[in-house]
Amino acid sequence: MRTVSSAPILSAVPGGGAIPRHVAIIMDGNGRWAKQRHLPRLAGHKAGVDAVRKVTRAARAMGIEALTLYAFSSENWRRPEEEVSDLMGLLRIFIRSDLDELARENVRLRVIGDYRRFAPDLVAMVDGAIARTAGNDGPILAIALNYGAQAELVGAARQLAEDVRAGRMDPSAIDAGAIEARLDTHDLPPLDLLIRTSGEHRLSNFLLWQAAYAELLFVETLWPDFSPAELAEAVAAFGRRQRRYGGL
Ligand code: IPE
Ligand code: IPE
Ligand code: MG
Repeated sequence: MRTVSSAPILSAVPGGGAIPRHVAIIMDGNGRWAKQRHLPRLAGHKAGVDAVRKVTRAARAMGIEALTLYAFSSENWRRPEEEVSDLMGLLRIFIRSDLDELARENVRLRVIGDYRRFAPDLVAMVDGAIARTAGNDGPILAIALNYGAQAELVGAARQLAEDVRAGRMDPSAIDAGAIEARLDTHDLPPLDLLIRTSGEHRLSNFLLWQAAYAELLFVETLWPDFSPAELAEAVAAFGRRQRRYGGL
């Protein structure tokens, strides 16, 4: 079922190492990018959307099966109301402007996180976008909206408790697979590479379970400046890593 579009960037990957199946990105640094230019933070977020467009295209061209982007965390509600509403506005604009291309390019759009807490019209837009690409069988673009890994794990724990209480499951049957099946990422490939931009060295509640054996890459580049070339470099660096999963 895996559809890989033409891959011109592949040849640009030095060493031609393994391509990660699933890449996730903590797209950080929009505010600092704007500040450096004496612009409002919104300008940084807009430039961030342009980077999203370029990087998702590049990921498809490279044959990455799944790309997960951290767009809004469950903690980002702590920001000023105006910024939160600007971010929601940009999400609306992105869906309006980019859904046609994603649908045409055979992309399957997914969302992880509790996006149903957003405004009803935005929830409807997101649901419509997911439904529109549901019949595709190409690369997955998963957007993390109101996502927090701890909340995701709490949700999985609750579902397991319900299953046990209802007699559908024995506690001894709870294993890693049972937890994974109840995470928002249950139908995504295992996470191979997790990138954070902007020089911060933390996960900020992103994919904590899934990152168990992912390769981590922290780059100084602020998200709006993160380019397809830098994605290719990250993929090349991944290809040079030796994964051992605790073995030898
Ligand atoms: C990341 O950029 C975008 C979101 C969190 C939505 P920031 O807005 O966090 O930018 P900095 O970290 O303030 O530079
Ligand atoms: C992480 O960035 C969330 C997103 C990129 C959506 P933050 O800017 O919110 O993270 P902290 O606050 O620096 O940890
Ligand atoms: Mg930040």
